[in-house]
Amino acid sequence: MQLTPLHVQGGRELSGEIAIQHSKNAALPIIVASMLSPEPITLHGIPRLSDVYTILEVMHHVGTQHTWTGPNSLTLVTPRIVNTEAPYALVNKMRASFIVLGALLARAGEATVSMPGGCAWGPRPVDQHVKAFRALGAEVSEENGNFHARRQGSLHGKFIFELLTVGGTHNAILASVLGEGTVTLENASIDTDVVDLIEFLNTLGARIEGAGTNTLVIHGVPALHGGEYTVIPDRIEAGTFMMLAAATGSRLTLRNVRPDHLTAVSAKLREMGVTIEENGSSITADARDRDLKAVNVTTQSYPGFPTDLQPQMSALLATVPGTSVVQDPVYPDRLTHVAELHRMGANITVSGYTQVIQGTRLHSAPVKAADLRAGAALFIAGLTTGGETVIDGVQYLNRGYERLAERLRGLGANVMQPEPALAAMD
Ligand code: EPU
Repeated sequence: MQLTPLHVQGGRELSGEIAIQHSKNAALPIIVASMLSPEPITLHGIPRLSDVYTILEVMHHVGTQHTWTGPNSLTLVTPRIVNTEAPYALVNKMRASFIVLGALLARAGEATVSMPGGCAWGPRPVDQHVKAFRALGAEVSEENGNFHARRQGSLHGKFIFELLTVGGTHNAILASVLGEGTVTLENASIDTDVVDLIEFLNTLGARIEGAGTNTLVIHGVPALHGGEYTVIPDRIEAGTFMMLAAATGSRLTLRNVRPDHLTAVSAKLREMGVTIEENGSSITADARDRDLKAVNVTTQSYPGFPTDLQPQMSALLATVPGTSVVQDPVYPDRLTHVAELHRMGANITVSGYTQVIQGTRLHSAPVKAADLRAGAALFIAGLTTGGETVIDGVQYLNRGYERLAERLRGLGANVMQPEPALAAMD
């Protein structure tokens, strides 16, 4: 859906408190996991984002009914699977929907899911998902752009991931929860979104051991019951606002955060000279009256510095005097923000996955977001300039940040954006 551009008037100090949304990337697999139970499941902390509406479309297609029971609460029920296929038109909208393959394989014994394509910043393979299914006893074939997976009995056995993958770990867990076998996953992701999925499934009666470690043991159970669960706070949204505070020389208090999920981000911002105070479930980032320093950043799997904050950090560092080096080996092509930041006067040289950034004062320009986090980066950059930055590609921001313009206005930012017509998609 094409939306009218966002107008960001920069140069103002922001202040105040903001409630951070619950995690998009934890909510999506938890919504998908709800199809493993035939009983109603109520989820709280579901952000109203276009990616959530997309996954609900996929769920509707396979037989899940949903009702919004509150602004961010959703009740889902899947009495039976009516369709074991997730077609290209839906999977193509959002790569994360590939994990319905594991969930359908568990609940229905077979599934056909369109091969997810790459995204704006390069290829995003699923070889580890497929290898895991095969190692655990499922048959997986690939034909005409679709993956077809089938199991005869329960999945069982051991798979060692060749690299840390959040989605691959999600998919293998979902596929293994129901049945009589025991599955061991080694070199599994310890990402917060994986831990949240496991905790959710265990509240429904699953028997998954080892959450937060690299070895997961999943004892199959005959069925899952219904339940209620609240999704964790969104550490990427929190990190984005911390960087926004740093870039605009502001003091912002973020409520509904898990400071322990942001350790690497807080450490890097402190190294730059930002004051970060943690107080229970809130964080205050204060960059007033501070001369920030250039730093070097390398992304890693959790608990390292997240790739999902790399573009925002690059935008912040583009405004900080000195030379910073930012490297993103997790997604080496995640660089769509660079050309747009150049339009705003940024001095960034790219070599492979390395950005060498000479900080300078940015100026406003018309720019275009090509993906979600690049959009957030342009937003941060726009708020540092003395003029008006017009950001196109707003539909990407709406994939991951709930009512961003409205919430920023609450902090004193001058941001104009026509309201997206998301309510019509419920
Ligand atoms: N990889 C493979 N083979 C696989 C799977 C992954 O080589 O079969 C590689 C990827 O190419 C990448 C690395 O492993 O280099 C990590 O990828 P991962 O599978 O962990 O990523 P993902 O599950 O597809 C999720 C988030 C992304 C986030 C990454 C990394 C969701 C919906 N997406 O993707 O979030 O960048 O983990 O943390 O949870 C975003 O929110 O902006 C976003 C893109």
